[in-house]
This record gives sequence, structure tokens and C-alpha cells, in this order.
Amino acid sequence: MSDGQRRALTQLWDQYGLESSDGLIDLRAQFDKDQDVTIEIGFGMGDSLVQMAADEPGRNFIGIEVHRPGIGHLLREADARGLTNLKVYSEDSIEVLKHCIPDASIAGVQIFFPDPWPKKRHHKRRLIQGDFLDLILPRLRQGGMLHIATDWEPYAQWIREHLEQHAGYVSAKVPGRPKTKYESRGLALGHDVTDIAVRKA
Ligand SMILES: C[S@@+](CC[C@H](N)C(=O)[O-])C[C@H]1O[C@@H](n2cnc3c(N)ncnc32)[C@H](O)[C@@H]1O
Repeated sequence: MSDGQRRALTQLWDQYGLESSDGLIDLRAQFDKDQDVTIEIGFGMGDSLVQMAADEPGRNFIGIEVHRPGIGHLLREADARGLTNLKVYSEDSIEVLKHCIPDASIAGVQIFFPDPWPKKRHHKRRLIQGDFLDLILPRLRQGGMLHIATDWEPYAQWIREHLEQHAGYVSAKVPGRPKTKYESRGLALGHDVTDIAVRKA
């Protein structure tokens, strides 16, 4: 972690940080404006999430990430742009979804380039699983969107199959989004990128 990232984590956490130990979140109390909330799970270094929050001031964003240098980086960038529509959990998304996010409260969940875990014996470590889709669904408002992107074709197939088997989601038009850091790496390696979007039925 760079000194700047470490400093950001210390100095900016009170302004941007959320704690799962505080339990169920009061979304209205957390943001200046009461407006739609999108959650991003696994934002990495966070540049694309900061970009989205800056581009869409009419929407609130919550990032969830476990990689501390990435969180420090995002805090620095958010502060540099004076963002007031972005908050962050530095914790496992499964715990945050379970304990902090109220039912039917979220307009969108986005997961860009989750770790692909290519080896068969590691597939159980993939974030996108039936149980995980079960966890997200009740937190979405009716019509709320789940948007996933991957540069690993077998994982794209896996995600499609899991979503097709899930009665709670129907397919949706893929929205635009900024390019992510991990995506640029995949494109440089010659990978194709797949975006998949569904809505809560
Ligand atoms: C391959 S990286 C992609 C990062 C970023 N979305 C991008 O496209 O550049 C996957 C990220 O997911 C995060 N991650 C993995 N499991 C997670 C979990 N259970 N909760 C929150 N973040 C998680 C990792 O720390 C990592 O930063």
C-alpha cells in the first residue's frame, strides 16, 4: 500500500466509510440526497466506480471491497473530486449483503470482472453462485438491475447458466459503463469482454 493510500484510509474513513458492525444501514441518513442506490461489489482500485459516481450525481453508490490498497486509492480519488454520493465498506460483500442492506432498497448491483477462478477445483470459490444470487435478489427493488461483466468466456457461460436457472431474474438491456482496470488488462491479453444484465422479476 502506498503512503498516500494509507493516509487516505486514516483521514477519509470517517467521511466515506461504512461498518458492517453498525448493522442494517439507513440509506437516507447516509447520503446528502435521497436517491437511487447502486452497489458495486469488488471495485478493485475503484477508478471506474469514482468515474460513475462523478458522472451520475443523481444516484448514490456504495462500494464493497476487501483489497485495502484499492480502498485507499478510491478514497483519495473520491476526495479529490469532492464526491458526496459514494460510500464504502471494507469488508466481504457476503457479510455486508446479509447484515447491512435492507430488503427492496437497492436500484442496482454491479460486479465487474469478479475473479474468474479458471481451474475446475476452484470453481466453488467463484463469487457468482446460486446462493449469492439468492442473497442479492431480496435486496433489489422490483425491476432493480444486476449487471455483471467478465473477460473469461467460461465464467460468462457459468454466470448465464446460473441466472437462467434462477426464477427471480429476467434478462435486461445492458447499460453502458466505464472501462475498468482489470478489463484493460484482459483486453491487452486478447480476451473478449461479456456484459450480462438482468432485472428482478
Ligand atoms: C479481478 S478483480 C476486479 C476489480 C475491478 N472490478 C476491475 O474490474 O478492475 C476482483 C475484485 O473483487 C474483490 N473481491 C473478491 N471477493 C470479494 C468479496 N467477497 N467481497 C468484496 N470484494 C471481493 C477482490 O478483492 C478484487 O479486487
